[in-house]
Amino acid sequence: MARAATRYVCQNCGASYPKWSGKCDACGEWNTLVEEQVAESAPKGLGKTPGRRIEFVALSGVSKEAPRRLSHIQEFDRVCGGGLVNGSALLIGGDPGIGKSTLLLQVTACLAQETRCAYISGEEAVEQVRMRAARLGLVNAPVELASATNVRDIVASLDHADGPRVAVIDSIQTMYIDTLDSAPGTVAQVRATAAELIRVAKRRGITLLIVGHVTKDGQIAGPRVLEHMVDTVLYFEGERGHQFRILRAVKNRFGPSDEIGVFEMGEDGLVEVTNPSELFLADRRGDITGTAVFAGIEGTRPVLVEVQALVAPSPLGTPRRAVVGWDSSRLAMVLAVLEARCGVAIGANDVYLSVAGGLKVTEPAADLAVAAALVSSLTGEPVPADAVVFGEIGLSGEVRPVSQTDQRLKEAAKLGFGRVLMPAPRRSRGGAGEDTLRRVELDHLNDLLPLFQTDSPPPRRGKD
Ligand code: TYD
Ligand code: MG
Repeated sequence: MARAATRYVCQNCGASYPKWSGKCDACGEWNTLVEEQVAESAPKGLGKTPGRRIEFVALSGVSKEAPRRLSHIQEFDRVCGGGLVNGSALLIGGDPGIGKSTLLLQVTACLAQETRCAYISGEEAVEQVRMRAARLGLVNAPVELASATNVRDIVASLDHADGPRVAVIDSIQTMYIDTLDSAPGTVAQVRATAAELIRVAKRRGITLLIVGHVTKDGQIAGPRVLEHMVDTVLYFEGERGHQFRILRAVKNRFGPSDEIGVFEMGEDGLVEVTNPSELFLADRRGDITGTAVFAGIEGTRPVLVEVQALVAPSPLGTPRRAVVGWDSSRLAMVLAVLEARCGVAIGANDVYLSVAGGLKVTEPAADLAVAAALVSSLTGEPVPADAVVFGEIGLSGEVRPVSQTDQRLKEAAKLGFGRVLMPAPRRSRGGAGEDTLRRVELDHLNDLLPLFQTDSPPPRRGKD
């Protein structure tokens, strides 16, 4: 007699085990294994049915460029790589309440002016979506709205030649296939429903926008396999207390994958922010110690943000390090270089670092701005209010050139900054900002310190 086959699947990472255990060995989460029935096992090998021969072609052929559909919400179109590609699947992840449904309703309302768009909500009733549409002033947009969760019905509604060209599934965790025993939101359901929906989207050339919830540690809930199944993964992020939201492409088969779009959540929905630097610097007060303006690049665009640091004597044996919006191991490196290569006694202090406004900076070019903010906080001498800073720091303390210098300088000049602390270029070449910005070129991190020297020695209250 055949054994009833079951397996235990981790609801966090999708790993499967023949036996139950309290902890998932793959991702380390506790109590995430759930029993699932294994579908009838596939026949071993290929069997007797012969396959068709594949036609091979040369690399040099002419392929049509994928046609793009523009929503005319520029921040959204740019993050998608210049518009939505027909027959592609996008996953939009984000914390609950961050504004995914709002964004997609606004996008479909714009797209619906030119093409048929369906918005299928599994989380909210039709009335709730209508109420949101009324609040956004979109009631007259010809979006086709439905509240449904059974994938069999959804596929039947999408799978015909004159069906909608764009479909939103809000959210994948509420959808289910009735032939599977598992509950909606489990790995098995999420994987199977996404596969069915993507299959019909590819066959009919439908652009599929799938909403996915994010777990507390930032993964798209359920399986990571979902990220492999779709063409594009976008994360919608932002701090709850802040009004603005950042849409970030983390994977894109049809465009650059590090692009961001910036929006502001207001009374009537999301508004595009076409000049993010102005927004990130809006609350800035000049001449405060411990802050530096970093001239960064996000995707294809320069973005200026303020880096804030607080260095305070620590009452603890192991001083605290708290970082928001930057990599904490990178902070540890900058602190170690300051201490070991420049003789700055900083290690015994508590260090708090934050990127103002909630942006997450990942570029190594922010090193120098962080170092400037730290030294400024330690010495009590502000970074000049009209200065921007960028540059990567190496382990020996050398300040290294970074890419896209001209773009950074241009943006700084545009926003009225007067000088720049930057790496000495390898070869001197004229930059766009040369006429307007006074350049302070640094070779080594040691060159930064004289800029913060006061006449009286700074109070050093560390354990030195
Ligand atoms: P929502 O799109 O429902 O989030 P998600 O789908 O990601 O869970 O966004 C809900 C939040 O946005 C909610 O806290 C209210 C706020 N909001 C506004 O501030 N202004 C608006 O015009 C709308 C529609 C929502
Ligand atoms: Mg929602």
